[in-house]
Amino acid sequence: MPSLIPDDPSVLLTTAGMQQFKPYFLGKADPIKDFGSKNTASIQKSFRTSDIDLVGDESHLTFFEMLGNFSFGGYFKKEAIEYGYEFIVKELGLEIHYVTVFGGDREVGADEESVKIWQSLGVKDIRKGSREDNFWGPTGSEGPCGPTTEIYVRGVEVWNLVFNEYYCHPGGKLEKLRTPGVDTGMGLERLVMVVQNMPTIFETDLFKPIFNFLDQRLSKPRPEWSKRIIADHIRGIVFLIVDGVRPSNKDQGYILRRLMRRAMPHLLEFQLWDPVVVGEKNDHAFKMRGLELVADCVIREYSKIKDYKYLSDRREEILKVIREENDSFDRVYENGSKVLEKIINKAVSDGTFVISGKDIFDLVTSHGFSIEWIKDKARKIHGLKLELDVFDEEFKKHQEVSRAGLEKKFGGHGLILNTGELKAGDEAELKKVTRLHTATHLLQWALREVLGKEVKQAGSDITPERTRFDFTFPRKLTPEETKKVEELVNQKIMENLPVSFKEMPRLEAEKTGALYFFKEKYPDKVKVYYIGKSLESAVSKEFCGGPHVDHTSKIGEFKIDPRAPRPLCFFSLRLL
Ligand code: GLY
Repeated sequence: MPSLIPDDPSVLLTTAGMQQFKPYFLGKADPIKDFGSKNTASIQKSFRTSDIDLVGDESHLTFFEMLGNFSFGGYFKKEAIEYGYEFIVKELGLEIHYVTVFGGDREVGADEESVKIWQSLGVKDIRKGSREDNFWGPTGSEGPCGPTTEIYVRGVEVWNLVFNEYYCHPGGKLEKLRTPGVDTGMGLERLVMVVQNMPTIFETDLFKPIFNFLDQRLSKPRPEWSKRIIADHIRGIVFLIVDGVRPSNKDQGYILRRLMRRAMPHLLEFQLWDPVVVGEKNDHAFKMRGLELVADCVIREYSKIKDYKYLSDRREEILKVIREENDSFDRVYENGSKVLEKIINKAVSDGTFVISGKDIFDLVTSHGFSIEWIKDKARKIHGLKLELDVFDEEFKKHQEVSRAGLEKKFGGHGLILNTGELKAGDEAELKKVTRLHTATHLLQWALREVLGKEVKQAGSDITPERTRFDFTFPRKLTPEETKKVEELVNQKIMENLPVSFKEMPRLEAEKTGALYFFKEKYPDKVKVYYIGKSLESAVSKEFCGGPHVDHTSKIGEFKIDPRAPRPLCFFSLRLL
């Protein structure tokens, strides 16, 4: 099975099944010679970092297995759609809830051919999607791409059929491919979720053994989202290690370290110890604990599958990497615990009972603590308060800076907002990010309309694929509220309002009623971006460096991902 580390240098990890087939789509490799046919199919280990912060909800994962069928100049739309229908309806006995097809835009026409094929199969609910939703690729900065048709079962997108008709050059220019191809991607975990009729992927057979293991072995029950993070991350950790990644501070190694360090605190305090001694020789013998034990469970389960048998062959090597990282984390953590203890003692003895945002920030960034862990410790001292809003602001700034470095590697998505400095890799991506940026302003306005003016942005994270908006509000939104917010934003998009800015002294800008981050240090002169005909009549006004679209209709259709998670102190919304 192809590795998670691709040959393609433009990406760090394998994010889709088609990646290994890029040369075949481009006519640079011969499928007949290699597969005896113009058509092939695969199961591909895949890893996506874009959703890492969403892990913990019902359906987002970092590591997953992707099923796909591919054609390089063999069959095209008709057969691909018929195969998709046959597999879902006839083989699996599922009902197709609806399908989506590409609705067309200025550059690429609507995919009427796919509409007709679906109709001929008796599918009634055929929805048209935009470039954002129904156009796939390329992976990395350039490559094959094209319109898609997606199959939804019980509202879950299970299968994405891509018709690779174009080559996307760096910068976004599309060129027709000489031979069009088919690339499909179906996430195994989501498929299993609908086949087994489970409400979340974590209740499927694929995750049950890990959850059972955690439930039996944890000395204290953990909340569901915490177990989901452990279960997702541990699969990613095991498969990254076996494919040769080692924890480090750069590239793939950094991703691995990040997964490990995010997962470890979830287990550390729960003394997941096992007296089992592993190791062939006595001098290699050791006792397993925490992450290692869960990794061992993953190795045991996956090795039952023939294609993953190599995991058990390399079990000791995998466990050793985890153990060593665990040990180095322990040292950091032990030090941090002493620091935290001192901070708590001081807060109690000086009578403030407050742990400052700066102290929390130091504990998280320098000592590898998780917020949950600090909260848990603090809870033990009656009346102790944590300055989490200050921490959020600090952390947001810090993340933006470090992300700029990391994400450059993913095709240049590095982005710093609020400073007016936008660093996106190329024009097409810059356009997408800009649309999402304006949408974020409308979203903040709509949330305040629906939930009240106490709603405040706590942060946001924009990539060309989606934006996440964090805000403070004491409960999860009801589906009706979410729908209302969505409607309001779309209404303003339809009104095609102009987006402009005025530069003015900070004090004057504050008086306009424009929103800004209280904790942020703004220069004496700031830009106020407003959406509407004039600053006075604008629906949204914010201190912001831009850039933004010039008219709201350029944003396109706005959707909130209903699976958005609910982390500790804010909720997140997704704009697809
Ligand atoms: N390559 C199609 C997909 O990943 O959805």
